[in-house]
Order: sequence, then C-alpha cells, then structure tokens
Amino acid sequence: MAAVHRLTDTANAAVSPEETLTHETLADNEFPTIRFLKSATSQAWVDQAIANMDEILLDHAQCERKAAAVAIQIMAQYPAKPALVKALPALAQEELEHFEQVNRWLRKRGVKLRAPKAPPYGGRLRSLIRRQDPHRFLDSLLVAGLIEARSHERLGLLGQHCPDPKLAVFYRGLMASEARHYGAYWVLAKREFDEELARDRLYGLATVESEILSTLHHHPRVHS
Ligand SMILES: [Fe+2]
Ligand SMILES: [Fe+2]
Repeated sequence: MAAVHRLTDTANAAVSPEETLTHETLADNEFPTIRFLKSATSQAWVDQAIANMDEILLDHAQCERKAAAVAIQIMAQYPAKPALVKALPALAQEELEHFEQVNRWLRKRGVKLRAPKAPPYGGRLRSLIRRQDPHRFLDSLLVAGLIEARSHERLGLLGQHCPDPKLAVFYRGLMASEARHYGAYWVLAKREFDEELARDRLYGLATVESEILSTLHHHPRVHS
C-alpha cells in the first residue's frame, strides 16, 4: 500500500517568510508538483522503520552529516557563484544542527554510537551526476534536492507513525526543514539554468530515484 502525503502540499505549507532559510522568498508556485517524486514511499518501509527506530536514528544522524557535507562540497566546487554562497552556508549549518539533535536522541535512548553501512541509494544517485560542467553543476543541485525531497517525505512519515510521541514531534519539525532545503536547491537550479531544461532533467533523475527505492533494502535505513 502506498503511503502517504504529497510533497507539494506539505512543502508549500512548510515554507513561511519567517522560516525562509535561503533569504529568498519561495513562492508556492516555485515548487514542482509531486509528479517530480515519481512514487510515494511504501507502507513496507514505514513498517520496517518504526520497528527499528534506533537503527533509523543511527542512520539518520549520518544522513544529516552527509547533507551538510554535500552543501559545503557544492560551494567548494563552485566558489564563484554568489547564489550558492548566499544560500548554502545556512543550509549546511541547519543540517549540522539536525545532526546534533539526532545524536541527542541517540544518547537519550541509550543507543551506542556507530555508523550503519549506507544503503545503495546515495551512491547510485551520485553516479548519475554527469562529469562535465555545466551538466555536473545542474545534476549536483538536482540530486541534492531530490534527496532532500525524499527525506522530507520520509521524516514526515516517521512524524506520523513513530510510536514514541515525543520523537514523532521531533520528526514533524524536521520534515519542514527538509522541504525548505529541497526548495533551496530547486530555486538555485532554476536560477542558474533554463527552467525547462532543469525540470526535464529533474524528472529523469526522479524516475531513477523511485526505481532505486522500488525494492526495500534489507536493512532499515532512512533511504532503504
Ligand atoms: Fe536535515
Ligand atoms: Fe536537509
């Protein structure tokens, strides 16, 4: 059974002028529709995740750390792009705050720190980034945005279904941030590239992203 909510609804609801991370105003119509996440997460993933919340939290901490690193890496690759320098430091900082928050939850639950082996998801998406610019730049922004969008959807599912009510509240809070992060990458892609070109490439990448997730990974992960 397919789960659950639509990215656009929650993404648009999540972005208020006060909360805008990038110092840009993200109008409602700047978000592509759910068509761009080609398939909703399955109930099987929800069941796997909520039965293994400690494992999910351990993996989630690594996801937040990697999300900060990706933002910093894109800035490092394109240091002469003012829009990146303006938008991405705040995004990276927020990801590191999430990393700290997830680690506090791990301590609270008495979970011993370790980094679970990553699922194939991130590596397979990164392999789709073309090697030559300007393609590499566009793909880097879109792949980062796709991962944020899927994180938004899945953290929202944890916010709905997590059996610990306080942890569920935490996840509902994070979900809004991930929607803004997705929005920030999409606005950057549209600013730096022809919108139709960016949208076409996004849809192609989103198709593969959904294919990667069509088989549930055997270990519980945020992107299993
Ligand atoms: Fe985050
Ligand atoms: Fe994020």
